[in-house]
Amino acid sequence: MRRAYIDSIGMYVPPKIVTNKDLEAMMDTSDEWIRERSGIHERHHVDGECTTDLALKAAEEALEKAGMTAEDIDHIIFSTMASDYFAPGGGPMMTRRLGIPGTPAVDIRMACSGFLYGLSIAKAFIESGAYDNILLITSEVQSVALDFSTAGRDTAVLFGDGAAAVVLKPTDEQRGIQSIVTHSDGRYAEDLMLRSPSTLDNPFQSHEILDKGHGKVTMNGRSVFKHAITKFPQVIKEALEAAGVEKSEVKLVVPHQANLRITEAVANRLDLELHKVVYSNIHKYGNTTSASIPIAMYEALAEGRINRGDIVVVASFGAGFTWGASVIQW
Ligand code: COA
Repeated sequence: MRRAYIDSIGMYVPPKIVTNKDLEAMMDTSDEWIRERSGIHERHHVDGECTTDLALKAAEEALEKAGMTAEDIDHIIFSTMASDYFAPGGGPMMTRRLGIPGTPAVDIRMACSGFLYGLSIAKAFIESGAYDNILLITSEVQSVALDFSTAGRDTAVLFGDGAAAVVLKPTDEQRGIQSIVTHSDGRYAEDLMLRSPSTLDNPFQSHEILDKGHGKVTMNGRSVFKHAITKFPQVIKEALEAAGVEKSEVKLVVPHQANLRITEAVANRLDLELHKVVYSNIHKYGNTTSASIPIAMYEALAEGRINRGDIVVVASFGAGFTWGASVIQW
């Protein structure tokens, strides 16, 4: 059977580091509050770079590690919540940045589940034989749409900017993506959103809309938390069942890095030992939306926590709501 596997990963975060102490100077918050509630110590923010700047660096590293050039890519899948332009999307822009005009590219806006949804599209493309070499890029610049006043503190402290890219290829071996399960539920759209520009308004952008704060990310943290800690374990169980894999066979779980308290609650509910089986690097990057899983996988690989043959589970939950999980044999 033809399967899709991840051949290489690249990542890039902008060099500017914003610590919790730095945030204390902008709003009424404290390093202690942020660490206790989220596990985050610092995050990276852009300082003039745009979404495709980060994406390009991550993509170049992934291509180099795969021993490929951009010309070898048959299809780009681009995941972001903040393209360089509101329209067109970042996928076509990446053909320009990579110097491969004419290459098909699709944009996905699935928030923190963008990597999972991107994997599911790549899996379908590769297993069907439609394409061989897929470049899945996740690149997120959230800092430009956060409210760094005290009014926005519950949300602004959580997010960071960053990008990752993976090259997916076909294989006839047993390795690769064994299962993917994805879900969405629009009933909770307003619990985590960036309201404008919106077709609910005509014209869809104005000073009045910006004055209302509709150009910034808003969140109902408690609702997100409550749903995340139930949906994560459920979907991981579904993905394991779909792959016919037992929990005891899993070498590493790489969840979307939303919040260390969410990750801890998920580990508890799945009866997994957090420090042995569940990967976390949120202290360094905060929540980098769809880039967080591949950034975490990149670091887990570099640390020797993922090796050839290992069963790895990746899982996400985020705005939409959207959630998903995949079982991958490395
Ligand atoms: N610094 C200091 N105090 C803050 C703060 C900050 N950055 N943000 C909120 N507070 C305050 C609140 O105003 C509130 O004050 P009050 O009691 O005087 O009203 C107090 O802290 C407690 O707020 P509460 O909302 O009850 O905190 P919480 O324990 O629910 O934690 C979150 C807030 C956002 C950390 C938590 O809800 C969460 O992690 N949610 C999920 C968020 C997430 O992961 N989103 C991305 C998903 S992809």
